Amino acid sequence: MSGTLRISICDPNEGTRDNLKKYLIGMDKVWLEADCSRYEFFSEIVDQTTPDVAIVDIDDDETTALELIEKLSRTHPSCGVIVVSSRTDGQLILKAMRSGAREFLNSPVQIEELVGALDRVAASSDGATRSKSASVISVAGASGGVGTTSIAINIACALAQNPDRSVVLVDLDLALGDADVFLEMIPDYTLLDVAQNISRLDLALLRKSLTKHESGVYVLPRPIQIEDGGSISAENFTKVLGLLKASFSHLVIDLSKSYNRLDVAALQSSDHIVLLTQLDLPCLRNVVRLLSSLELYDGVQDKVKIVVNRTGLDKSQISSSKAEETIDREIYWRIPNNYSVVSECRNNGKPLIRSAPKAAITQSICELAEKLAGGFVVEESEDKKGKKSWLKFLSK
Ligand SMILES: Nc1ncnc2c1ncn2[C@@H]1O[C@H](COP(=O)(O)OP(=O)(O)O)[C@@H](O)[C@H]1O
Ligand SMILES: [Mg+2]
Repeated sequence: MSGTLRISICDPNEGTRDNLKKYLIGMDKVWLEADCSRYEFFSEIVDQTTPDVAIVDIDDDETTALELIEKLSRTHPSCGVIVVSSRTDGQLILKAMRSGAREFLNSPVQIEELVGALDRVAASSDGATRSKSASVISVAGASGGVGTTSIAINIACALAQNPDRSVVLVDLDLALGDADVFLEMIPDYTLLDVAQNISRLDLALLRKSLTKHESGVYVLPRPIQIEDGGSISAENFTKVLGLLKASFSHLVIDLSKSYNRLDVAALQSSDHIVLLTQLDLPCLRNVVRLLSSLELYDGVQDKVKIVVNRTGLDKSQISSSKAEETIDREIYWRIPNNYSVVSECRNNGKPLIRSAPKAAITQSICELAEKLAGGFVVEESEDKKGKKSWLKFLSK
């Protein structure tokens, strides 16, 4: 199964084993090869299933379990072993690592920690069958009405065109978010429901509580009542993101313009931050202010990509070179202005790839989405830049 991480687990305790299985079964790009309740049988199961990762809970009999891990590391060096234990003392961790374990997880296992451990084991292994947790793209705006929702939704729909991806869109504009209207959907549950029930949700339930748009994008909308936004804690929201990252290959987050604690949590969890601006002074001034504020959070500023929306809107726009000089950053991408196409897409609840697949704005957003996802794209064809365009592989 190319691109999938194959896992076998061994845990004599039914409760913790089922818990682990529940997490793994719901994860995107993870295949549960086998689950075993006896240490003495597991070595043979690994011989037969040759998984990429073996997860062993050692609580039932530490000595036997550590001997098993030592044997697995010897006989299957390419299989990454993850140890699970309710004990956390340094001696035990050291023993597990010396037996050949690559990761040590504390029981009860938290989904974010499991995803992190699987990522690290996958990254340290060679071979082609490697999974990775989701890529998170936050779309932020330098001013109200700059196009954040329009671009976030259309990036998500563009990404979902590739059937190998599973995409979820989170509407973080808690008061006035309109992602659901944009996609003409009436979701059953909102971010509030998911955040409030986060401790009880598993991946299968999470997927069930999200509504799937015909483009393939799953949507997690803002709460129904404006006043409910305040009851979502940053801690629970971060857990929601952790669960979504375990279940989807791509998360697109439509940020609010208030840059509150949830927006900051999203920014910290992101791989890419698309900061949308227009070529006018108020927007550019806010870009400078935002970049300066983001310095407070480790590593966040480096993830920011400045994307200009509505280029060619009118003659009074500030030039790209002047804008770059003002913000002291390069412009990463430019999206052309096309009000009639975007407003038609909004009013009819159809994403651009459906309502205007050939329009230059649609092509531009699709190329931006691929560039962010690390795909094969046509480098921004700037006749606009006065240069020749060429095909190029772009990495993240
Ligand atoms: N590239 C574009 N060309 C023309 N109009 C656009 C473009 N992007 C967004 N718009 C329009 O700008 C307005 C605000 O867009 P919206 O996505 O709601 O912004 P935000 O979420 O930042 O408030 C909408 O009327 C939308 O149709
Ligand atoms: Mg919006």
